[in-house]
Amino acid sequence: MKSINQSSVQDYYEKVLRDKSDNNENLFASVSSVFAQLLSVINNDHPASLSAIDLGYGYGNYCLAMADKGFHVRAVDYVCTKYFHGRLQSLPESYDITIEQKDLNELSISKHYDLVVCKDVLHFLNQVTVEKLLTQIADSACTGACHFLTIFTDIKRCDSFGNALFLEKEANYSQAVLCDLIQRVYVDWQLDIYSELYKESNRANPEHYYFRANRITVIAKKLP
Ligand SMILES: C[S@@+](CC[C@H](N)C(=O)[O-])C[C@H]1O[C@@H](n2cnc3c(N)ncnc32)[C@H](O)[C@@H]1O
Repeated sequence: MKSINQSSVQDYYEKVLRDKSDNNENLFASVSSVFAQLLSVINNDHPASLSAIDLGYGYGNYCLAMADKGFHVRAVDYVCTKYFHGRLQSLPESYDITIEQKDLNELSISKHYDLVVCKDVLHFLNQVTVEKLLTQIADSACTGACHFLTIFTDIKRCDSFGNALFLEKEANYSQAVLCDLIQRVYVDWQLDIYSELYKESNRANPEHYYFRANRITVIAKKLP
């Protein structure tokens, strides 16, 4: 089996964001309807006090949507901050977003965030790091906190010849193992979990799916 190293993942996202190049995973897409709905029902009577973190923000659309809603947003990704800074500077309005370049493998969280977003990122990390990060964000959350996570499980990658590929040190969760982890971490939280089939193909060769997985969406709310 052929392997891909982690540094090539970072190089890939640096390049896509630098060139704003067409990509098959829709990195530049608007926020999902599920997330838009989640934001729409958040009470922002006291917007100045709301805080959010986006772990692996990518192009930054989730950060912008949260900032629009009145959140102070901490945006963390290991790509260079200049792409998102440049984007923010080009926008007519100013946004309360702090951008940080950091590898999530080295991040520790001990602060409460009203809203945590981590979309399509955790599968890149190893299982120990995923469990550590989720435990930290859950343990530091206060009542009313909401966590929106989407995580790929049961991933099958292949090259253009159909040969299996795997990414070094990735979590490689099965749906059952991930759901078990979520249940253990979010004890006494209100949990909404659902799964959908996800596949990506190349626009040049739409019949060839080089990435197939289950995409698990978790919406966790900390109850009083
Ligand atoms: C599939 S993109 C998702 C981007 C964004 N969350 C979204 O859904 O639009 C994955 C993002 O995770 C970031 N990422 C992957 N591994 C990371 C790591 N170890 N530390 C920090 N960021 C990472 C990548 O740079 C990329 O921006």
